[in-house]
Amino acid sequence: MDNLKKLIHGSSGIGLGNGVGAIRYTNYKKSTDKVYMASRKKKKGEFRIPGKISGIDKNKTGLKIRFQNEIELEIKFLDSNLVRTTWTPGDLPVPYAMSDKEWGDINVQIKQKDDSWMISSDTLSLQVHPCGSISYFENEKSIRHDNPPRLEGKSWALTSDLKKEAKIFGMGEQANKFDLRGSSMELWNTDPGGSYKLNEGPLYMPMPVYYCLDSNGGHLIFHENSYKGTISFEEEVKASFMGGALRTYFIAGDIKDVIVIFTELTGRASLPPHWALGFHQSRWGYKNEADIRRIAKGYQDNQLPLSCIHMDIDYMDAYRVFTIDKERYPDLKKLSGEMEEQGIKLVTILDPAVKIDKEYDVFMEGLKNGYFCKGSDGHLMRGLVWSGWSAFPDFTNPDTRNWWKSKYPLLLDEGIAGIWHDMNEPASFVSDGDPTLPFSTLHDLDGKQGDHLEAHNLYGLNMSRAGHESLKEHRPEKRPWLLTRSGWVGIQRYAWHWTADIESSWEALRMTVSGLLNLGISGVSHSGSDIGGFSGMANTELFIRWFQLAGFTPFFRNHSSHHTPDSEPWEYGPEAVAIIRASLRVRERLLPYIYTSSWQAAEFGYPLMRPMFWDDQDDEALLNIEDCYFFGDHLLVAPVMVEGQTEKEVYFPKGTWIDFYDGSIYTGGQIHTIKISIEKIPLFVRSGAVIPTIEDGSRILNLYISNNSTEKTISIIYSDEGEGYGASKQEEFIVVGELDRIIINRKVSGKYPLPTNSGLRIIGVEAKSVKIDGRAIDVGEKTIIKSKFEKILIKV
Ligand code: GLC
Repeated sequence: MDNLKKLIHGSSGIGLGNGVGAIRYTNYKKSTDKVYMASRKKKKGEFRIPGKISGIDKNKTGLKIRFQNEIELEIKFLDSNLVRTTWTPGDLPVPYAMSDKEWGDINVQIKQKDDSWMISSDTLSLQVHPCGSISYFENEKSIRHDNPPRLEGKSWALTSDLKKEAKIFGMGEQANKFDLRGSSMELWNTDPGGSYKLNEGPLYMPMPVYYCLDSNGGHLIFHENSYKGTISFEEEVKASFMGGALRTYFIAGDIKDVIVIFTELTGRASLPPHWALGFHQSRWGYKNEADIRRIAKGYQDNQLPLSCIHMDIDYMDAYRVFTIDKERYPDLKKLSGEMEEQGIKLVTILDPAVKIDKEYDVFMEGLKNGYFCKGSDGHLMRGLVWSGWSAFPDFTNPDTRNWWKSKYPLLLDEGIAGIWHDMNEPASFVSDGDPTLPFSTLHDLDGKQGDHLEAHNLYGLNMSRAGHESLKEHRPEKRPWLLTRSGWVGIQRYAWHWTADIESSWEALRMTVSGLLNLGISGVSHSGSDIGGFSGMANTELFIRWFQLAGFTPFFRNHSSHHTPDSEPWEYGPEAVAIIRASLRVRERLLPYIYTSSWQAAEFGYPLMRPMFWDDQDDEALLNIEDCYFFGDHLLVAPVMVEGQTEKEVYFPKGTWIDFYDGSIYTGGQIHTIKISIEKIPLFVRSGAVIPTIEDGSRILNLYISNNSTEKTISIIYSDEGEGYGASKQEEFIVVGELDRIIINRKVSGKYPLPTNSGLRIIGVEAKSVKIDGRAIDVGEKTIIKSKFEKILIKV
């Protein structure tokens, strides 16, 4: 009932009518789930472990081992550092998480060693012991040990050893600290109901993916099993799933290399349109065209750059999806055109559930064609959302996806630039308990058929797949941009993610950094949070600090619940506006660098936000850091996340670091105490980096270099039109410092035309002389050089 109060009066504010419905729905779901779980229990077989090996089938890329107790293990190498193990019985997963990469045949060696079987590629070996336990070796070094799995009825459980010092990262979206050791996590996409705080879970997008780092190195595990389950990391790892085959991918190596392979397997984000990396303003409560114009004007009057405005549920006609309230938005097309002229895009929210209403064509079409989820006896499965009683499209049905895809043009034709998927866990209001569809709900699963226990976690992923494909098909000249609240492994292929209804607190701000880093390690390269928190009211200091941090997260958006006071920057007073303006301008200036980082996500799967151990996981001091991170290759961000903080201790990785704002030098491999002011977020640049910025329309190459930098540093700049699929250019700057000189070599590929001239700024050293391709030039604050060059030589 506490949930109900929160729902009716709290930040999610569903209203009294829906509140009464929520009690009814809760009772229905609870009793249906009870019956369903009891029927599953009846079918439970005995508890089984594999028993002894009873037979072997070898093939080129792996082998199958049969065990006495009718349990089978298949081992298949997809690549020399990527191996898949599959324990059956149990249905194999429909490969929703997977990219469409075809893995070639890789030769493996299979040998019998005493009673066990060794299967090896060039780098990895698996030793299957006669009881079914598996030891993993990387170049002969033991890195993991799985005990024999256990099958109870349809549920698999697996325990694996965990070294004392092992740290765990990933697991999709979590309201947790960065290192997940000591935590137990449920694998069940869940709407926490309008607000959540630290250690509450599960949230919208947990994932069975983790990176384990211990004294023997690192490895990534992905259990390709979408069933409801849990994973805990205490003395040992315990993973369990309520059905399906127990299929696991294993990749060994340093985080950077592992992410490349993992995202080859599960896909990478497509390159976003440039505008998506700009600033987004949103609020639940913008009611009509006048509100949108007011916001755009507010940004203009306060000289705050704005890229996009989001329209929350109030643009719809009585919350019916794929409709527009004509009273509030009499001419959306005209509005979007007007905004476009001001350089502002519009994004609309889109929920999955379709109001049950005989007068509503979307519902009637879905009903007639059987596109909605049904119960086991064929009845329409209902749930409760903003629009009242609603039906839920079964996005695991390809026909449903195609139908849903055909609806987006309604919004696109009005000039809507991107789509924001919400409530797609899927969420249904409850007064208490699990806010989703009953477990017995049937799903097509692309012909395989299955229940909600299996399909639930795949719901947001498949809705986003439909959305992404629709935008690609209906607007082929533009890049699709979607945001989603829920998803599963592989979601980065279709949409960005945000951490949704987070409370407004300092603790929530801190958890945002840990949470976004863990999402990145799970493959989600682009994510962000609601600035200031969603559900409460941030004081001015918290709002400013959140804003500054969000400028160094991929998705940069201010959003809040309708129950909170207005929270556009100017609501916090002129001093705050000035600070926010500065922080927006830093983001704007850095867009060429951030865009390049986004391109790296599309090319290599690198998240934009990277843990401090990204380049050096041998330095133990870096492994524990959760209050600093890298943004792209060369920026070290040390956000302020403690109220009233005046100093922050920052451990710098080895090498030399240069203050972004004033050029002061910090030697790495040690802690420095940084003085903090409210004006800016502490930001440092790796010495040797070339950071591109855009200033007053001109491109500037900022070379950050200190006298004592002797290492080679590589910087990439990726440029293109920012939209569509035309030509691009990649520049590689190789910077080498010698005793008294710095050499910059530039290599270029691609046809996109750069501006004729660039600015050159040297930060960190006093240059005595500068030669570009052999010609001496004068150096000043903004030296103009030809964008085209091969070599710069700086005497220091
Ligand atoms: C959910 C979303 C939130 C949105 C609200 C109304 O709570 O997480 O962002 O504002 O629904 O659509």
